[in-house]
Amino acid sequence: MKLVIFGPPSAGKGTQAQKLAEKYGLPQVATGDLLREHVAKKTPIGLKVKAYLDSGRLGPDDLIVQMISERVSKPDCKNGYILDGFPRTIGQARELEKMTDVDLVLNIVVDFEVLVERAVGRRICPRCAAVYHVKFNPPKQEGVCDKCGSALIQRDDDKETTVRNRLNVYQDQTAPLVEHYRTKGKLVDIDGSGGIDAVQAQMVRAIDRLKK
Ligand code: AP5
Repeated sequence: MKLVIFGPPSAGKGTQAQKLAEKYGLPQVATGDLLREHVAKKTPIGLKVKAYLDSGRLGPDDLIVQMISERVSKPDCKNGYILDGFPRTIGQARELEKMTDVDLVLNIVVDFEVLVERAVGRRICPRCAAVYHVKFNPPKQEGVCDKCGSALIQRDDDKETTVRNRLNVYQDQTAPLVEHYRTKGKLVDIDGSGGIDAVQAQMVRAIDRLKK
C-alpha cells in the first residue's frame, strides 16, 4: 500500500502519518524530517537546503526527488510506504508517477488560521521526530519526549512570519495538486478541524475501504 498524506503546513500530516505507520506497519517517509536530518548533520544536501527550510520556500525538485527515490528503494519500503510532505509540486508528482503508482491521497483540509496556532505551538523531538503541541497534544512531562526522553525543541521555521510564508508557498505551488489527484480519482478529503483521533478515524475508514 502506497499512501500520500497531503495538506498544508501544520495540518497534521506528520502526526497522522506516524500513527498510520504504527497501525499498518509501513514506514513513514517524511521529506521535512529527512531534510532536517541532513541539515543537522551538515551533509552536502543539508548545506544546500538549509536556506530554503529557514525561509519556508520549497527545496529544488531534482534534489528532493532524488532523496525520495533513494529512500523508497530501501528494503523496508518493499511492501509500501506513507509519503508525508511529498509530492509538493506538479513536477514532483510527475516524477513520482514515473517511479510508482500511489493507491490513495489523503488530503487534510483545515482553515489557515487554525494552522498558524498549530505550527506556533508545535514541539518536536530532535532524536525520534515525534510531534507534540503545547496545548493540543502535550507530552506527559513538559518539554520531554514521551517516546525517547529527549528534550523537545521548537522548529526554526515555526515562527509566525515563516509559517505564513509557508502557507503562501503551499497555496501557490502545492494546492494545485489537489485537483491533479482528484481528477485521477485517488484523492479523499479529510476534515482536519477535529481532534487528532477524529482525524485518524476518517483516514483509517478511507484506507480500509481501499483494502476491501
Ligand atoms: P515539512 O516538515 O514537511 O513541513 P510542512 O509541510 O510545513 O508540514 P509540517 O511539518 O509543518 O506540518 P504537518 O502537516 O506534518 O503537521 P504536524 O503533524 O506536525 O517541510 C518543512 C520544509 O522542508 C518546507 O517548508 C520546505 O522548505 C522543505 N520541504 C519539505 N518537503 C518538501 C518537498 N516535497 N519539496 C520541496 N521542499 C520540501 O502537526 C502540526 C501541529 O499541530 C503539531 O504540534 C501537532 O501536535 C498539532 N496537531 C496535529 N493534528 C492536530 C489536530 N487534529 N488538532 C489539534 N492539533 C493538531
